[in-house]
Amino acid sequence: MDKIERIEELKREKNAVILAHYYVDGAIQDVADFVGDSLELARKAKKVDGDIIVFCGVYFMAETAKILNPEKKVIIPYYKADCLMADMAIAEEIEEFKKDNPDYAVVTYVNSSADVKAVSDICCTSANAVKVVEKVDAEKILFVPDRNLGSYVAEKVKDKKIKVWNGYCPVHQKLTVEDAERRRRENPDAIFVVHPECKKEIRDMADFVGSTSQILEFVKETTAKKVIVGTEEGIIHQLRKERPDIEFILAYSEFVCDQMKMTTVDRLLKALEREQFEVEVPEEIAERARVAIEKMLEIS
Ligand code: 13P
Ligand code: SF4
Repeated sequence: MDKIERIEELKREKNAVILAHYYVDGAIQDVADFVGDSLELARKAKKVDGDIIVFCGVYFMAETAKILNPEKKVIIPYYKADCLMADMAIAEEIEEFKKDNPDYAVVTYVNSSADVKAVSDICCTSANAVKVVEKVDAEKILFVPDRNLGSYVAEKVKDKKIKVWNGYCPVHQKLTVEDAERRRRENPDAIFVVHPECKKEIRDMADFVGSTSQILEFVKETTAKKVIVGTEEGIIHQLRKERPDIEFILAYSEFVCDQMKMTTVDRLLKALEREQFEVEVPEEIAERARVAIEKMLEIS
């Protein structure tokens, strides 16, 4: 029996459900029960009725699943798979800001720790950030932790005062204007799609800006025959499935989130065999974080 068959067998034996983000390796996406963006995965995690959720992504995603569905055993195949941006916001610093600025609402991107979510008014993902900021009942917003997504939201929501935290995704930040211009020169007939975690200069060059699921939706309908992809390479696996007729070109050759690639077939197999590594969130933190996440789910 090969490793994938054994994973399928263990899934059935243990009544486990595998959730995977678009950025994990294609082999993992293919063995998953559900593949999605952060928002879709949060919604799905809440509804899972198996006994175990195996989360193939980064830690904050597994933590969100545990917060939303606390009765389930949630495991992550590699416990050190951590979103580099999520560590850039610190709960104590946000609490201090709130003390000094009580008229601000804190809107926190889900790419953050449970501790940070717990001191936030509401969460958002890249798919609903504009909507959440528009709808939140405050004129002044602190947007945490992504300065690029925050500045994207500020461009769209002109009637609110938006302060942005100084966090960023090192993987998206690395894409330079020179890289993007080179790709465009090499492929003059291609369209350019980017994730809002990219810098403003890059977003301004793009034909489409959207979350991973929004990029997928956009590409499904496009008449273009070549697409330059301004986000993590894992998404190309799904893009190719949707549109095998299109040539996809990564905006820069190393557009890879090493943290997302920590989930390998071997680690997934071991995770199911040993039911490791279990994700726990202290109930006092989970309770407050849940309020911020649920508010987001209601709005979107
Ligand atoms: P999505 O919310 O678009 O899935 O993005 C998550 C992420 O980590 C982007 O780097
Ligand atoms: Fe975090 Fe960036 Fe990786 Fe997304 S691509 S999980 S934001 S480090």
